[in-house]
Amino acid sequence: MTERAKILVTQKVPGPAYPLLEAIGDVEANMEEGVIWPYEELLRRGPGHEYIYCLLTDTIDARFLEACVAGTPRLKMVANMAVGFNNIDVDAATRLGIAVSNTPGVLSDTTADLAFALLMATARRIPEAERYLRAGKYKGWGPLLFCGAEVHGSTLGLIGAGRIGKIVARRASGFDMQVIYYDVYRMPPEEEASYHLTYMPMDDVLGRADFVSVHTPYMPSTHHLISEREFHMMKPSAILINTARGPIVDEKALVRALQDKALAAAGLDVFENEPAIEPELLTMENVVLLPHIASASLKTRTLMATMASENIVAHYHGQRPPNIVNSEVLK
Ligand code: DGY
Repeated sequence: MTERAKILVTQKVPGPAYPLLEAIGDVEANMEEGVIWPYEELLRRGPGHEYIYCLLTDTIDARFLEACVAGTPRLKMVANMAVGFNNIDVDAATRLGIAVSNTPGVLSDTTADLAFALLMATARRIPEAERYLRAGKYKGWGPLLFCGAEVHGSTLGLIGAGRIGKIVARRASGFDMQVIYYDVYRMPPEEEASYHLTYMPMDDVLGRADFVSVHTPYMPSTHHLISEREFHMMKPSAILINTARGPIVDEKALVRALQDKALAAAGLDVFENEPAIEPELLTMENVVLLPHIASASLKTRTLMATMASENIVAHYHGQRPPNIVNSEVLK
């Protein structure tokens, strides 16, 4: 009979994830909602587990992974409940023979919905107008009251057009927007046509777009992809939307660019040093700030949570985890 697995779940996740894990092993779990274990605690609890079910708030670096392979039993797999896995040192995991999985696909539509909501909220100044009304300042309709930017018929520039970017392009079609994109991988012409996308070099996208929406993964080559130079290529009326990863945008340079009016506004769901935020951003009325909730519908978060469990279960049964990131460790 196969031995029961030792599994660690680092944050409270949607309920349906647990029975799948409990069917194959003994589960140690952080059940305190909203409590993120600090790195030192993770380091203390990790060793002795074969499977670590983690979140993007956990730093799974080489030191942590090495400690976990020195434990008994040895760590076999890290299952991230997120599509992005920049919190995990995948090279170190691969070197140590540890499988890594993520949760792609199930959150793409929900994330695209939020990107579009943020675009609308920023362009039409919705949070600012609501704050004004709640503060008792609304004295009647005014011809100039909260005039924002036009969304329909404008140009959306996608920086990165993978799964999520393409769905954002679909949302934009419904608003009669022209969608231009830059990505390191150019799509075949038929695919561009099916999403009504026009490819351009990044500088041209930045220079032409009324809205620039970021959808690249975060990796060394996309660190500060949007920085001072890029902000100054954008139209002074342009609006930046980021629902990807914070460090893709140089947050200090963004503050300076907004102060210098190099761009008009920004809608941000992610930050360079989450949960810390550049303090100036908190004081700017033309910036809409959200606490990393792009995939946060209960349905999607439940799908992500069970998907992470299913990756672990497959590995436990000697099968290929459906969303393995470093398949070379399975050879
Ligand atoms: C991810 O999955 O990478 C998101 O940032 C959280 O849904």
